[in-house]
Amino acid sequence: MSGVLSGKRVIVYGVGAMGAIITRLLFEKGVEIVGSIGRSPTKVGRDLGDVAGLGKTLGVEVENDPDRVLSRGADVAVVCVSSYLDAMHDHFARCLKHGVNVVTIEEETVFPWTTAPEHARSLDALAKENGVTLAASGAQDVFWLNLVTTLLGASHRVDKVVGHCTWNVDDYGPEVANHLHIGHAKDEFDRFVATSGWPEFVARQTLEALVSRLDLSVKSISSDVTPIARSEAIYCGSLGVEIPPGSMTGTVDRTVVTTREGPQFEFTMEGRVYRDGETDSNHWQVFGEPNLQLSNSEASYRFTTCSTLVNRIPDVIGAAPGLCSLDKMCTPSYKHR
Ligand SMILES: NC(=O)c1ccc[n+]([C@@H]2O[C@H](COP(=O)([O-])OP(=O)(O)OC[C@H]3O[C@@H](n4cnc5c(N)ncnc54)[C@H](OP(=O)(O)O)[C@@H]3O)[C@@H](O)[C@H]2O)c1
Repeated sequence: MSGVLSGKRVIVYGVGAMGAIITRLLFEKGVEIVGSIGRSPTKVGRDLGDVAGLGKTLGVEVENDPDRVLSRGADVAVVCVSSYLDAMHDHFARCLKHGVNVVTIEEETVFPWTTAPEHARSLDALAKENGVTLAASGAQDVFWLNLVTTLLGASHRVDKVVGHCTWNVDDYGPEVANHLHIGHAKDEFDRFVATSGWPEFVARQTLEALVSRLDLSVKSISSDVTPIARSEAIYCGSLGVEIPPGSMTGTVDRTVVTTREGPQFEFTMEGRVYRDGETDSNHWQVFGEPNLQLSNSEASYRFTTCSTLVNRIPDVIGAAPGLCSLDKMCTPSYKHR
């Protein structure tokens, strides 16, 4: 498999907060950006370099007709649009039908086999039919899956693995803030969860990929969400609004997975609008023989989501056709130009 990025022909599909950073990284790695797909009239028709804030044009127009852009061909589409396969199925299917590989930061594709089995099976079949691969990466890839599985390579006996991370809602675009109901009344959020349920967000798919990577089998899964509200007002840059006291500023999403073989896994993700000076964190503890720990105090998820995805491009192009969930992807690594 070639680990080289330069010369790969890439389409940027979704030019929001993440797509803009990814555009710069692709440009700096010598990737050939051959097309770009957007939605908003404030972006469509403009040059991608301009929309992404590069301070230069790239000679690539942001277009709103995905089929037209995809039909011109590319090695891979980098898709940064939304978070669940219900919303993303058609976007992915369109790329696959055009014979274009997909690497995405859409969270469910990390391990979609139990939360969206129908979408997963049909996209897997479509990818195989067209000889291309659909795979997801992002913060999960290095920080919550591969660092942890590597650490567990030093374990003799594992009783329990406990992970905790914090991330800043303001590091991402409105897609993320709206998903977490930022700015809504806490009571309204409680009523929404009670009536509609809370779609499991990241922690579940990450733990299922982790358990699968370790060749363990799931016995039970439980997830819960706790709203975060503050007693003082805080400004949310992502939405451009002041959030009044008592309204939603984030959520704590927790998933616990037990396995038939014994080890238990718990992962808590705290996504909230940060106060000045707060930084992203990542802590994992392994209880067993021996007890182990890993910690990153500066995980910089906003950036590392994008740099990890870009590093994954050659892996995805070289992977076997089909939907390749993250447990089945090779170990991530730095890719030179
Ligand atoms: N796995 C990870 O580690 C990770 C990390 C960060 C984010 N994410 C996920 O990645 C997604 C994007 O995050 P973000 O912060 O970049 O959000 P964002 O700034 O809100 O960007 C979303 C982009 O999708 C575009 N879009 C929506 N519908 C579209 C369509 N039909 N065709 C083309 N473009 C469309 C929007 O276009 P317009 O601007 O033109 O409206 C917007 O630019 C979110 O779902 C987020 O949860 C994952």
